[in-house]
Amino acid sequence: MASCKWVPSFFTVLLILPLLSSSTSSLSPEELAQIPVKFFDFAKRQELFDYMVGVRRTIHENPELGFEEFETSKLIRDELDRIGVRYKYPFAGTGVVGFVGTGGPPFVAIRADMDALAMQESVEWEHKSKVAGKMHACGHDAHVAMLLGATKILQEHRHELQGTVVLVFQPAEEGGGGAKKMIDEGALENVAAIFGLHVSSSDPIGSVSTRSGPFLAASGFFEAVISGKGGHAAIPQHTIDPILAASNVIVSLQHLVSREADPLDSQVVTVGKFQGGGAFNVIPDSVTIGGTFRAFSKESFMHLKQRIEEVITRQASVQRCNATVLFNEREKPFYPVVVNDKDLHQHFLNVAGDLLGPRNILEKPPLMGAEDFAFYQEVIPGYFFMVGMKNESQGKLESGHSPNFRINEDVLPYGAALHASLATRYLLENQPESTLSKGDSHDEL
Ligand SMILES: *[C@@H]1O[C@H](CO)[C@@H](O)[C@H](O)[C@H]1NC(C)=O
Ligand SMILES: *[C@@H]1O[C@H](CO)[C@@H](O)[C@H](O)[C@H]1NC(C)=O
Ligand SMILES: [Zn+2]
Repeated sequence: MASCKWVPSFFTVLLILPLLSSSTSSLSPEELAQIPVKFFDFAKRQELFDYMVGVRRTIHENPELGFEEFETSKLIRDELDRIGVRYKYPFAGTGVVGFVGTGGPPFVAIRADMDALAMQESVEWEHKSKVAGKMHACGHDAHVAMLLGATKILQEHRHELQGTVVLVFQPAEEGGGGAKKMIDEGALENVAAIFGLHVSSSDPIGSVSTRSGPFLAASGFFEAVISGKGGHAAIPQHTIDPILAASNVIVSLQHLVSREADPLDSQVVTVGKFQGGGAFNVIPDSVTIGGTFRAFSKESFMHLKQRIEEVITRQASVQRCNATVLFNEREKPFYPVVVNDKDLHQHFLNVAGDLLGPRNILEKPPLMGAEDFAFYQEVIPGYFFMVGMKNESQGKLESGHSPNFRINEDVLPYGAALHASLATRYLLENQPESTLSKGDSHDEL
């Protein structure tokens, strides 16, 4: 059989091809357009709204960091049990993958991240974080509530689902790359497309913002130890000063973007950490610096990585220091570029347009922020968008990662309805063509 290895894969291709060609559903355009409206009405009902608010506040009070979302994961599984939805667990430690619908193809995924940040909440309110030094300051508590809300909508309308919606609850979006581990453990098995969202403090409630193609940057972190020889500050000739060497390294790193990169190809190198010394009159043995780098293509990103390493080691040696550079990929994996699929962009415009009105779909410029949703998009077509929650009449909202960050809970029904509608319409509009009804069926099968 070894010599015939190509045969099964050749036939597999023939079998899969008809699945990839989409056909429109039996519903009329008017009936399709009604689905998001119906789901949004359902999401806004007091009962479902209160449910999502309750879930979100419970999670907000008990924030857990990346890969430690044990209680959050338990809450999700308990809710899925209560709703009556089948799931698999664990993925990536705490991740949960649920299934609503026929159990058969096509499969489309919707995703929420579950992790909090290591920071102290400053907002004084009834449901403030009960864990010192941990806070849901990026809205992932709301993302989980929205996905559970969407699960309720989908389960209520499960008989209208022509396929299966895969509910992806993933750990560790904030630097840990939980998405990558979810994929490695099979969370995307058979899945044809995936949708993900993030709440936005800067966009008005009732709007979504997004773009086709590259949307968020690739991101990586570096840390370097620059070692010299410590000694008395007044006798520098007997020392090798790592503080001065590190200062020159940082200045030289700024030339990478300003002098080496194409000005039209957005990139960032930021040194955010500089640690060394402790006394006014002592030159220390070593200095540690650290930072992040961003780019909008894999090529630019990998080039930056190489040059950061070269500039640090070579610039350090100019001043007789040694330097070691670490990228800590195991702990903080490089995030790829978030690239929104062109066909899914059209799907999004159609569905979100039916739900919110085309005027409320805003085109967002690319952002240098990063999202591990990009890992899914490396494997299958994916689509990521922002859901606005700014309501001028309720005051200003701080942006994410601020200790004063808060969610406008009015956003919850929008997220739930968008999730449920995008998935349901995707299934209806991407039905496998019947292989028998086609004249071009392959005799050899
Ligand atoms: C740098 O490394 C070389 C080779 O290991 C070593 O001989 C030298 O002493 C080091 N210099 C400093 C300043 O640490
Ligand atoms: C914005 O806030 C006002 C005042 O609380 C409220 O009446 C209105 O419904 C909010 N708008 C949306 C779209 O939620
Ligand atoms: Zn976030």
